[in-house]
Amino acid sequence: MMQPVPEALAPESTRGRRLHNFSAGPGALPEEVIEEVRAELPVYDDVGASIMEISHRSPAYDAVHNGAVERMKRLLGLGDGWHVLFLQGGASLQFYQAPLNFLPEGGKADYLVTGSWSKKALKEAKIVAASRGATVNVAASSEDAQFSYIPEPGTWQLDPDAAFLHFTSNNTIYGTQFQDEPEVDVPLVCDASSDFLSRPIAVERYGLIYAGAQKNIGPAGTTAVLVREDFLQRRVEGLPTLLDYRTHVGTLYHTPAVFAVYIVEKVLKWIEANGGLAGMTARNDRKAETLYGAIDATDFYTGTARPDSRSKMNVTFRLPSEELEAKFVKEAKEEGLLALKGYRTVGGIRASIYNAVSQASVDALVDFMRRFEAANG
Ligand SMILES: Cc1ncc(COP(=O)(O)O)c(C=O)c1O
Repeated sequence: MMQPVPEALAPESTRGRRLHNFSAGPGALPEEVIEEVRAELPVYDDVGASIMEISHRSPAYDAVHNGAVERMKRLLGLGDGWHVLFLQGGASLQFYQAPLNFLPEGGKADYLVTGSWSKKALKEAKIVAASRGATVNVAASSEDAQFSYIPEPGTWQLDPDAAFLHFTSNNTIYGTQFQDEPEVDVPLVCDASSDFLSRPIAVERYGLIYAGAQKNIGPAGTTAVLVREDFLQRRVEGLPTLLDYRTHVGTLYHTPAVFAVYIVEKVLKWIEANGGLAGMTARNDRKAETLYGAIDATDFYTGTARPDSRSKMNVTFRLPSEELEAKFVKEAKEEGLLALKGYRTVGGIRASIYNAVSQASVDALVDFMRRFEAANG
């Protein structure tokens, strides 16, 4: 049995309170959504049980699931030619499932490698390619400079016969982001996990978009997969049932991550109520401006991403020494600023400022940064 944390270990000022959350994922959820979930947790609507305790084929869950699909379509302006699926296995399974469906026998695919996640996607694509006599081409990579930038489109070595171009729209670990979506002659396949629904996208360029929910649109447990019907028709036949995207179109083939989708539906409602993707863009631009402004205002903090490639979701920076970085993370936490440590393999500081992170949280971080520099600079 878990022992309760002794009161002496939890600072009086922060115990039991929701703090400023800069977690890279699972990340912050909107306060309103948390409150709504709390209120209806024991009994959902008039079903006499919680949403977790009823059939996924019940009218109540059906309405939740279809509600999430419809809201997603409205937010992104997806027409009837699009399917919205909520799958399991995380974005990591999509690394394999996407080429499994769309890299044909003897075919080709282009990959833009801009960070650890795109490298993992590339690795899975190569596994698929090896079994099909297919080729995976690295059209561009920024590994030569620790993934600190997004390669300029003019430098990409694209294959005109590629079945698709895969890219990672936002690089969670390195704090870089495509400022503009690739404009190429083949359909885009995008891992949008860490900037999904943070800004509008040109959906007509894409065949497939996937995103783990746990950063911008919900809790861990489900992955949003958006696939265009005409692209889907090109998929490889004869795949294992669960890995064939077609299996999931228009029907729940198996039990979905009910509780996760239920929360996603509420987050999508929150996004709509807050101005949709235009509202998210304005909110995210302002937060990013505040934080990068504080980094650029002094030599004490140094941004790690090249300025023209900076992410508006994951802001990465360094302090003059690793000792100061450790002190920064520790003292920030004591003040109620959570999860500012950089990714385990790269170090430094990372503040993830996803949709649900408020301007007030960013202001509190910037205020702390100024005081920390005054005391340690
Ligand atoms: C851009 C990106 N892609 C993929 C993943 C892996 O996602 P999952 O853990 O859902 O498989 C992450 C997780 O942080 C990510 O940031």
